[in-house]
Amino acid sequence: MNILVINGPNLNLLGSREPEIYGPETLDEIMSWLADQPEARGHLLKYFQSNHEGAIIDRIHEARHEVDGILINPGAYTHYSYAIRDALAAIGIPAVEVHLSAIDQREPFRRTSVIKAVCISQISGKGKESYQIGLKYLLKELIERSN
Ligand code: DQA
Repeated sequence: MNILVINGPNLNLLGSREPEIYGPETLDEIMSWLADQPEARGHLLKYFQSNHEGAIIDRIHEARHEVDGILINPGAYTHYSYAIRDALAAIGIPAVEVHLSAIDQREPFRRTSVIKAVCISQISGKGKESYQIGLKYLLKELIERSN
């Protein structure tokens, strides 16, 4: 399967950004770790990070001819980007939403995800393992759907 992993705003600063919340590892370290997980074996993972809503939307549009599934951490866009939500709904490729932190246990504004309803699952609060759990779920669904 071809999987696109999208990381939204401020996730490029992982490693130095609020490590008590997001952990000590950089985004590159987390993405390399993800690629090394047994779940990823035999699949092609592509990566995209942007701090810009429009760039994320453009990448989602491009993905429509190119990937089987999307793993997305939309960062703060999670909580208010109807445009990213609409882009995911428009392309109709299965997507899983992931978060390092437990968004349902943080500030009230983080408890709402406008993205969740257009994803097949949401995994949050497991640190980098949220990506691994999300990838595993996404691949299982994609393989089932292709049979
Ligand atoms: C985040 C949670 C968001 O609320 C926050 O804005 C982020 C990171 C997470 O992975 O825990 O940028 O998506």
